[in-house]
Amino acid sequence: MRESNRLLSIVHRELGKSIRPGMSTKDIDKMGEKLIRSFGCVPNFLNYDGYPASICVSVNDEVVHGIPSKHRYLQEGDIVSLDAGLIYKGYHSDAARTYAVGSISPEAQKLIDVTRQSFFEGIKFAKAGHHLHEISNAIDSYVRSFGFGIVKDLVGHGIGTSLHESPEIPNFRQKTRGIRLKPGMTLAIEPMITLGTDDVEWLDDDWTVVTADGSLAAHYENTILITEGDPEILSLEEDADPMTGIIIRRA
Ligand code: MF3
Ligand code: CO
Repeated sequence: MRESNRLLSIVHRELGKSIRPGMSTKDIDKMGEKLIRSFGCVPNFLNYDGYPASICVSVNDEVVHGIPSKHRYLQEGDIVSLDAGLIYKGYHSDAARTYAVGSISPEAQKLIDVTRQSFFEGIKFAKAGHHLHEISNAIDSYVRSFGFGIVKDLVGHGIGTSLHESPEIPNFRQKTRGIRLKPGMTLAIEPMITLGTDDVEWLDDDWTVVTADGSLAAHYENTILITEGDPEILSLEEDADPMTGIIIRRA
C-alpha cells in the first residue's frame, strides 16, 4: 500500500505541474496513464464498472468522475479536479486534487483551500481507538463554518486489494459512532465540497457528477494508514507540507 500510493503521489505531482490553459482533459488522462504504466502498474479506474479512462477529470461544477475528452479544453480561470489510482502488486491506491487553471477567483481558491484543509481536519481523528464518524463530523464542522456545501451522495471508503472496501466514510455529520479504528486499516478519505448546494446530479454519460445548482466543486483525497499515533498519509506528495498538504515548490 505504501509503494502503490508513493507511485500515485508522483503521478499527481507530475499532473499538477502540467496543468495549463489550452490543454484538453484527454491530454491529462493520456499523461497520467503513461506515467502509471511506466511504473509497471495498472490504472485501477480504467474499465472499473465500464469507466472509459484512467484519470477522472472534473472541471468547475463537475464534482467527480468527469470523462476526459479531446474536445474539452481547460481555460484560464477554471478549476480542475483530478482523481487517480493505480494497482501495484495487487494493492490499490486512490487520491484526488483540485488545481487552479491559470489565475482564478478568490472564491474558487478559497473552495480549493477549504476542501484540502477539511481532509486534514478530519484525519486529526484518524488514529487507533477513535471511531470512524469522528472523522466525518470534523470535516462537516470545518466545512460548514465557511457555509460551503458537502456532497452526501458520494463517500470515502476502505481500500486495499480492492479499490472500494468497507467501511463507507461520509463527509457529513453522523448520528452514530461508526467502527472503531485499528492500526493497519487503510482508508481513502475524500471530501467533495461545493460553493453552493449539497445536491448533485448525474449527466447523461452516467458518470459525470455535477452540482445541482451549477456552483463550483472541489475534491481532495488521500489514502491513509491508521496507526496508534498520527496516520500515515500514503499518497501525499513528497514535497507537500504534512500538516496542510500545501505543495512547497522548489526551483
Ligand atoms: N476515485 C474514485 C473513488 O474515490 C473512483 C473512481 S470511479 C472510476 O472512489 F470508475 F473512475 F473508477
Ligand atoms: Co476514492
